[in-house]
Amino acid sequence: PVKVTKICCIGAGYVGGPTCAVIAVKCPQIRVTIVDLNAERIAAWNSPDYRLPIYEPGLVDVVREARGRNLFFSTDVDKGIEEADLIFVSVNTPTKKSGVGAGSAADLNYVELATRRIANVANSSKIVVEKSTVPCRTAESMRTILEANSKPNCRFDILSNPEFLAEGTAINDLFNPDRVLIGSLQTPEGKAACDALASVYANWVPTERILTVGLWSSELSKLAANAMLAQRISSINALSAICEATGANIDEVAHAIGYDSRVGPKFLKASVGFGGSCFQKDILNLVYLSESLHLPEVAAYWRQVVEMNEYQKRRFSKRVVDTLFNTITGKRIAVLGFAFKADTGDTRESAAITLIKDFQSERALINIYDPKVEHSQIWADLQEASPLVPLDSIKKQVTICSSALEACKDAEAVVIATEWKEFQEIDWETVYKKMNKPAFVFDGRLLLDADKLRRIGFKVTTIGRAAPLVQGSVPN
Ligand code: NAD
Ligand code: UDX
Repeated sequence: PVKVTKICCIGAGYVGGPTCAVIAVKCPQIRVTIVDLNAERIAAWNSPDYRLPIYEPGLVDVVREARGRNLFFSTDVDKGIEEADLIFVSVNTPTKKSGVGAGSAADLNYVELATRRIANVANSSKIVVEKSTVPCRTAESMRTILEANSKPNCRFDILSNPEFLAEGTAINDLFNPDRVLIGSLQTPEGKAACDALASVYANWVPTERILTVGLWSSELSKLAANAMLAQRISSINALSAICEATGANIDEVAHAIGYDSRVGPKFLKASVGFGGSCFQKDILNLVYLSESLHLPEVAAYWRQVVEMNEYQKRRFSKRVVDTLFNTITGKRIAVLGFAFKADTGDTRESAAITLIKDFQSERALINIYDPKVEHSQIWADLQEASPLVPLDSIKKQVTICSSALEACKDAEAVVIATEWKEFQEIDWETVYKKMNKPAFVFDGRLLLDADKLRRIGFKVTTIGRAAPLVQGSVPN
């Protein structure tokens, strides 16, 4: 196969950064340059004390090993493109906010701009790899743009190589992927390009885990994988509502279902709702695709996964208000966790944002603590969630705290919004003493030992469990 010696990655975000840093570590013979238009981000990747722009366990060690050896971060996009023989396009593909398909279609502007840049700059043949998550047939559009703008003697082969890493476990996911998926045209040239990329991964991924398929299957598989994962969570969350109404226990139900080897135990944890930059966006993308293909029943089926998630978040906030004697006006609520899941500083689509917005509209006072999210990010997210409210007014209602204990002081209720392990290790006896009474805990992540908290004196409400019928009694 064509031998890859220089790789460029366009987009130094949550995917491009870790993915290509791991390639550099595993393939010392390949020079990897990650480029981005965002100078601040690149400066952080290059910072001498490794204050990287994203938090991901194990990432610093990977960057420390390869940076300056065969891993480089740069704002010089053109130079990166020109030098490389293989280019990953790993730019953002958010949901469109306006125009045709607003609210569901993917905004492909960044992919197109990156593709046009490649076409304009390249003086030699390149393998162009679509790493971003994109609607089906985007590779086809990329190919048309590249071919219409290429210089003589420049060939472009397009591959689809979607990324399956999850945030918080990205490094482990990249070191030991369940599979690597590569889609290509089924022509001799397409297959040769596919072999070239496969041989990069073969430096550390067992060959039986490198799956090669057609371009469109590859693009659709990414959307389908996320849709099916999110569907599992919406299914378990729908069941959590039944548990709360009947006295069944969602953990026991999930355990019993997951024991069936056809279902499997993973990804069945009831929660306040899924968040993250991918699930909602990719399902909406699939919905839009189904609608465009005149398959309204298919579109409605997948849309329901997102609607169930919205319902779960609303249901949880309502339960907080109901339990606090139907009003939280003027009451202080401590929200522990702001990231969309543990072990990340990422807040995109975090359920915490929705919960806090609901508490704001009930005119509660909210204390927020998260171990990793920057305060400026929290303010930016809250401002974006309530664009018409001046930040000063938001700040009158919301306080960001630097420890869980500080957040819980004088609060009526604690809400667990993210499953950070450190919340299990909080000194709950001290928290209890510092809170107003009765002191309530709402565990939206099935994280805490409810019985232990009840013994301290807390009134505990857990997702997927009925409220105790008699105050102080322990539910099943
Ligand atoms: P991100 O926003 O963190 O990073 C994208 C980066 O691309 C930004 O830093 C931006 O400045 C840069 N960029 C945009 N246009 C550019 C251009 N023309 N030239 C140079 N740089 C440019 O996004 P992300 O979370 O890394 O996601 C990237 C893609 O990967 C998306 O399509 C996403 O759906 C997909 N994906 C994300 C995850 C995840 O867990 N975050 C997992 C799998 C797949
Ligand atoms: C997801 C996919 O897992 C990954 O394969 C894809 O590449 C990108 O999208 P990510 O969004 O980073 O990854 O995290 P994930 O672990 O999937 O969690 C998504 C959301 O679902 C989080 O808010 C998480 O808390 C929630 N979740 C997950 C549950 O509520 N219950 C579960 O059982 C699992």
